[in-house]
Amino acid sequence: MKENTIKNNTIRSYVKREGRLTSSQQYAIDNYWDRHGVDFSPACLVLQALYKRRAPLILDIGVGTGDSTFNHAQTHPENNYLAIEVHRPGVGQLLNNIESNNLTNIKISNNDVIDVLQNQIPDRAISQVFIFFADPWPKTKHQKRRLINDQLIELIKRKIARHGRLHIATDWQDYAKHIQRLCHSDPELINLSGNKLYSSPRPNWRIRTRYEARGLRLNHNVWDFCYGFNLNR
Ligand SMILES: C[S@@+](CC[C@H](N)C(=O)[O-])C[C@H]1O[C@@H](n2cnc3c(N)ncnc32)[C@H](O)[C@@H]1O
Repeated sequence: MKENTIKNNTIRSYVKREGRLTSSQQYAIDNYWDRHGVDFSPACLVLQALYKRRAPLILDIGVGTGDSTFNHAQTHPENNYLAIEVHRPGVGQLLNNIESNNLTNIKISNNDVIDVLQNQIPDRAISQVFIFFADPWPKTKHQKRRLINDQLIELIKRKIARHGRLHIATDWQDYAKHIQRLCHSDPELINLSGNKLYSSPRPNWRIRTRYEARGLRLNHNVWDFCYGFNLNR
């Protein structure tokens, strides 16, 4: 696994406190990374060579243990998936799932999505972006760490294909309001729930992961947002 060694002063949306890997996660990283992992490199990926075919690319950002990516990829073999996760235990778990089910349409990056988008993804290459249950950073002093911010949206706008889609889900009302403020005022984003509506109906293809289940246990609502793009550049 090659991490990005270009250090910059960007505020990160995560803190690496990953604890110990289980022996099965370590085994997966040692044995399956070469087949399904994407090392960091400051050069654009050649997607057709990576997946050995041309297919719509779905970028799933912050996949945790990857259950949602895995489910979507298994039910949509016609798509290619790039799962991005900075914590290695989740990467190990997803590698095990990919390998035991012989999936060939998921690749995994173990780097910060900002570095991956800035360096490795060609412009206009992504068909859909998923950001499900990003860490909410609820304390005011930590909100600068939120993953969904101007920088990420600008990068997505550069990398998304013309008829691409951005799907977001959160169970934190304050994060939902933040997303609404950021995205609904952006003339290049189209709120596909309709201009007057706050959020979209829950898509039936999004499985309930443990993060959503925890939100529901805490009596949180869940907000889904779905955007198209109006890019004249
Ligand atoms: C709360 S979990 C959600 C997992 C999954 N999407 C789900 O719905 O179950 C958020 C994940 O995003 C990852 N993450 C946070 N910032 C990231 C970044 N900049 N690049 C890649 N992964 C990131 C965290 O490590 C964490 O595993």
